[in-house]
Amino acid sequence: MTLDINRPDLTVGVVGTGAMGRGIAQVTAQGGMKALMFDAAPGGAAKAKAAILETLKGLVAKGRLTEADLAKADANLGVAEAMADLKPCHIVVEAVFENLEVKQKLFGELEAVISPDAILASNTSSIRIASIARALKHRDRVCGMHYFNPVPLMKLVEVIRAADTSQATVEAMVALGKRQTRVPVVVGDTPGFLVNLGGTAIGTEGLRIMQEGRATPSQIDAVMRDSCGFRMGPFELMDLTGIDVNFPARKIIYEGFFHDRRMTPSPYHESLYAAGRLGRKTGGGWYAYDAKGAKVDPGADHPTSTVPASSVVIMDTHNKKLVGLIAADGAKMLGADDGKSPILVAPIGKDCTTTAIELGLDPKRTIAVDLTGDTAKRLTVMTAPGADAGVRDAAVALLAKSGAKITVIKDSPGFIAQRMCAMIANLGCEMAMIGIASAADVDTAMTLGLNYPRGPLALADWLGVKDCHEILVQIQAITGDDRYRASQWLRRRAMLGMSATTVE
Ligand SMILES: NC(=O)c1ccc[n+]([C@@H]2O[C@H](COP(=O)([O-])OP(=O)(O)OC[C@H]3O[C@@H](n4cnc5c(N)ncnc54)[C@H](O)[C@@H]3O)[C@@H](O)[C@H]2O)c1
Repeated sequence: MTLDINRPDLTVGVVGTGAMGRGIAQVTAQGGMKALMFDAAPGGAAKAKAAILETLKGLVAKGRLTEADLAKADANLGVAEAMADLKPCHIVVEAVFENLEVKQKLFGELEAVISPDAILASNTSSIRIASIARALKHRDRVCGMHYFNPVPLMKLVEVIRAADTSQATVEAMVALGKRQTRVPVVVGDTPGFLVNLGGTAIGTEGLRIMQEGRATPSQIDAVMRDSCGFRMGPFELMDLTGIDVNFPARKIIYEGFFHDRRMTPSPYHESLYAAGRLGRKTGGGWYAYDAKGAKVDPGADHPTSTVPASSVVIMDTHNKKLVGLIAADGAKMLGADDGKSPILVAPIGKDCTTTAIELGLDPKRTIAVDLTGDTAKRLTVMTAPGADAGVRDAAVALLAKSGAKITVIKDSPGFIAQRMCAMIANLGCEMAMIGIASAADVDTAMTLGLNYPRGPLALADWLGVKDCHEILVQIQAITGDDRYRASQWLRRRAMLGMSATTVE
């Protein structure tokens, strides 16, 4: 029989009332449903109810909730003294410790208590739902319900469909998510589910650029913020969530996908983990933090020369963005090499060395500029090994006249922004192709779950689908690394001149 989620007496059991269970109970009660809380620690559920009411009273004091709403939520929050008290629940959401044996045992006990058509869901972040359900009698009514921390503020919930999960269960849990005022997305039972898998791209590619000695963590973070509109760069994010959380998560996902090179973790990440430099909470991770928890400024990206170049060579006069930039900076633009001026190029996916050699330019004076994203805020510049630092600095000073900050990095195919964005977009395309979720849900989930300025498929459109594909093709050709192989989803849409969000 299909469960009617809108029934007025709908009762949701919440087992494990720590950080996540409290949030799940709160949004359930606020959604007008009964939340029956149970915790193995004596008095744990009652403590959780008191904490939720404190939070809600705070909202009343700020005028964001009425006294009547508070009273309703209070009446909806129940405390179960024993697991047997969960018998009337139509749904039970589990949020206990992240341990397979603990969860398997608990689900077995719950199955013996609740009615055979009640739904059982786990909030696990990393355990396969099918493995929790494996020993149960009615596996079709088991699914994942992956909320994000802090639950009341994070709107997304991933409804995880395991091998045996019925369509009716998925539909009921999508409806439950909506009643809890969440935005549900339906996701496959694969390592990292959707958001944690999708989040692999930014972290691992940032680490790779750093590991290759191309740029520092603060340079990579600044480009992701200023050029690409991300609220945080990968290193800031790793320090915030904690190296003890994100390094093991990266490893689980890498191993879960049988060592797919797109998900390769970095030994530098492991070194921090081994050292116990866990990020903000230990006063140091990729960055140092002062006693008040503020990031210690790692210093300026690059000292700018005071003497801007008065003329530059631009061979590719069709590149409107580059020509426009130089015209605004007021330098003389030469269409042919004069043997001394900086030669500006704007490669897509190639490094400065390859570009100079292929075009027959003087590699000492060739300056590659990344025109990705918000060029008014920041420009990234790179040169080939052995380049003339004086020529480079004169070009940098000229570009800085626009008011943009300039990041000078070592030669790298795809600079920072192209590499990072193409990798995020590529993984998003792959997730849509292999059916981890629908294309629309991939973008919704990554935007809501990670605060990205746009989802991965929309990011491919933002880069230009053809350019996004070209960046990957070039990086793979130059590095010979399978990590950069383009998703077939992306390749087809690039060839057809379509948006990356086009569904089949
Ligand atoms: N914290 C996060 O950011 C986050 C985000 C998404 C998902 N999750 C997942 O949610 C789950 C809970 O995480 P959390 O951070 O709330 O943990 P937590 O440690 O804050 O709370 C766990 C609670 O479960 C109780 N508990 C343990 N075993 C129990 C059992 N057998 N029966 C009943 N209660 C039991 C504990 O007493 C504790 O109150 C984990 O599976 C975790 O992976 C966590």
